[in-house]
Amino acid sequence: MAIEIKATGRAIPAKRLTNTELPAGIDTSDDWIRSHTGIGSRHIADDAVACSDLALSAARSALTFALEQDGVQEKTLEEIALTLDMIILGTATADYYGCPSTACIIQNKLGAKNAGAMDISAGCSGFIYGLEIASGLLSINPARKRALVIGSEVLSRFLDWNDRGSCVLFGDGAGAALLEKTDNPKRGILRTILKADGSGSDHLMIKRGGSRNCFKSGEVVDIHPHVEMNGRAVYIFAVRAMTEIIAQLMEAEGVGVDDLRWIVPHQANARIVSAAAKRLSIPDEKFVLNIEEYANTSSASIPIVLDELNRGGKLRRGDLIMTVGFGAGLTYGGNLIVF
Ligand code: COA
Repeated sequence: MAIEIKATGRAIPAKRLTNTELPAGIDTSDDWIRSHTGIGSRHIADDAVACSDLALSAARSALTFALEQDGVQEKTLEEIALTLDMIILGTATADYYGCPSTACIIQNKLGAKNAGAMDISAGCSGFIYGLEIASGLLSINPARKRALVIGSEVLSRFLDWNDRGSCVLFGDGAGAALLEKTDNPKRGILRTILKADGSGSDHLMIKRGGSRNCFKSGEVVDIHPHVEMNGRAVYIFAVRAMTEIIAQLMEAEGVGVDDLRWIVPHQANARIVSAAAKRLSIPDEKFVLNIEEYANTSSASIPIVLDELNRGGKLRRGDLIMTVGFGAGLTYGGNLIVF
C-alpha cells in the first residue's frame, strides 16, 4: 500500500502586479528585484478574497481534475468531496487568528461532510509537512482513503509595503493535491524528511497579534501585522537547508540525479536554488522555477508548480520527483515521490 498524488489544482488571483507597477514609494527597481531574486511579478488577491477562498478554488480544481482520472467512480464534485477523509491546509495567512481553522471553513464550503480538517503552521514548508501528515493519517487507518492537502496564502495582506527588503518578495495563490491510497507498489510518496531549527524563529515572523504580543484594548496600532525578516540570515539558512535535504533524500533512497525527473523547490529566490544546485553539482535545469511570475507564495508555491507541470504534460505517471523547501519556524524538508 502506498499514498499517491491522484490529482492537483491551483488558484491564482487574476490581478498581476509587475515589478514596475509596484507602489511608487518603494525605493526599488525591476533590475534589482530580478537580479537579486528572479522575481518579475506577483499576483494579488482582491480585498474581499481570504485564504479560504483561494484554497477552496484550488481544492475544487484538484477534485474536478480527479473526476477525469482512471479508477475514479464519482461523477460530481459533490460526490467526490464526500469521499474525503482529511483536509489539511498549510498556511501562514489563515482567515482568522487561532480559531476556527481555515481548513474547517474549506471543509464546510466543499461539502466534505466525512472529513476531518486542520491547519498546520509550518511556514513555507507547509505543503511538504502536509503531504507527510496526510499520508501518515491515511496509512494508520484502513478506513481512510483520500485526503486533500492544500497550501494557500494571501501574503499581500501581511506585508509592510514600506519595507523594500520584504514586500517585493511575496505574492498570493493556492495549490492543492488529492492524495489517495493505491495498491500499486510502484507509485506514491517514497520518503519524507521534516526538520526544524527554532533557533532561527525570529528571522522570519509576523510579530503582532499572538499571545506574546497581543493587541490591547485602546491601543493605537500604526501598522497592521506584517512579515518581518532578516533576509541575509534566511538566505544562508535556506541554501544550507536545501542542500542538506536534497543530499539526504537522494542518499536515503539510493537515487542519483539522473533518476529524478524534476526537483520542485520552494520558490523563494532563484539565487537560493542556484546556489544549492551548484553546491550539489546538479544542473539548474533539473529545478522547476515559476518564481518570475508568482514570486514567493509560501506554502502554495510547491503545489502550484506541481499543478503546472501536471496539466502542462510535463509529469508522467511513474516519474520520480522531489520537493524541497524551507520557511518560517524555521522549518525545512522535502518529499521524494513517484508520481
Ligand atoms: N530594492 C533595492 N534595493 C534593495 C531591496 C530592493 N527591493 N531590498 C534590499 N535592498 C538593498 C538593501 O537595502 C541593501 O542596501 P545597502 O547596501 O545600501 O544597505 C542592499 O540592497 C543589499 O541588501 P542585502 O540584504 O545584502 O541583499 P541580498 O543580496 O541579501 O538580497 C534578499 C536580499 C532579501 C533578496 C535576500 O537576502 C533573500 O532572498 N533572502 C531570503 C529571503 C527569503 O527567501 N524569505 C522567505 C523564506 S521562505
